[in-house]
Amino acid sequence: PTRVLTGITTSGTPHLGNYVGAIRPAVAASRDPGVESFYFLADLHALIKVQQPARVQRSTLEIAATWLACGLEPDKVWFYRQSEIVEIPELSWFLTCVAGKGILNRAHAYKAAVDKNEGESLDPDAGITAGLFMYPVLMAADILIFNAHKVPVGRDQIQHIEMARDFGQRFNHLYGEHFVLPEALIEESVATLPGLDGRKMSKSYDNTIPLFVPREQLKKLIYSIVTDSRAPGEAKDTEGSALFQIYQAFASAEETQAMRQAFADGIAWGEAKQALFERIDSEIAPLREKYEALMARPQEIEAILRDGARRVRERYVTGKMQQLRESVGLRDLS
Ligand code: TYM
Repeated sequence: PTRVLTGITTSGTPHLGNYVGAIRPAVAASRDPGVESFYFLADLHALIKVQQPARVQRSTLEIAATWLACGLEPDKVWFYRQSEIVEIPELSWFLTCVAGKGILNRAHAYKAAVDKNEGESLDPDAGITAGLFMYPVLMAADILIFNAHKVPVGRDQIQHIEMARDFGQRFNHLYGEHFVLPEALIEESVATLPGLDGRKMSKSYDNTIPLFVPREQLKKLIYSIVTDSRAPGEAKDTEGSALFQIYQAFASAEETQAMRQAFADGIAWGEAKQALFERIDSEIAPLREKYEALMARPQEIEAILRDGARRVRERYVTGKMQQLRESVGLRDLS
């Protein structure tokens, strides 16, 4: 079967961007009988951004409950916490030793941090941890250890998948064909969902719509999406409209076409926002109910995650890691 794998960093509350970019396509893919799925909580990655233990724990629980509420079936897919697969940081070290430093210098997240420092006339490396720099190597280990073929992600992660291919290829070249080279799976229409201010929806821009806020708050947030000042009756542009793009991510092709027409016909912004709210709420409301029920039973979520990690290690990881240790000239621990 095709192995599909994806993760979400446990550094905050999941938002609509995570849902349309990763969770929804991943859960849909997992229903295909020809697919074996691996979905995980990237809690080691979270330590790069969040150094408050309680927040990491809370986010882990929220993101796990989100996956489950969105239809992930833990007995049909591999579902686990990254940090419980202790071989992942070990493989990450092996990959560190083949990864080109120059490639890591070009990683967007690291470069953005350096540019920001330079803009503020600071030492370019001020406050940047080696963790941020190594982020793509850890991510490559997540993917390569399971020989994943496809990785459903939003556009912001494409560069990381390309780096995983690069590191995997270098390792294969040196030590033999140990790794499948993964491909990103991008759903074009939702590859970058805009946030409230029109920039990419992102925890770092503080412009997100959390997936499971109460209905009234969802409505408020949707009404706060930026629009231009065109009056009712004036034709509106769909191009560059955050409202339209978010609508498109939740609506069928026909509904989207109808909304495009309504924009041309000068729909009032308030009316368009109401339509967007209703469209999102009708998809999310049943999931929100499940989410709330799950969040009331954290021990169950914990048990699912532990069991998932134990089983996937036994099935895939322990044996693979022995092979990898031997291949680089270290002692087999078995
Ligand atoms: P993270 O936690 O930032 O985001 C999780 C997923 O959500 C997608 N996403 C978006 N998609 C569309 N529009 C948006 N505005 C938007 N914002 C976020 C992201 O592209 C991602 O697919 N490094 C990863 C987590 C990770 C991972 C992995 C992913 C760790 N190891 C291995 C895949 C495979 C991250 O921080 O994603």
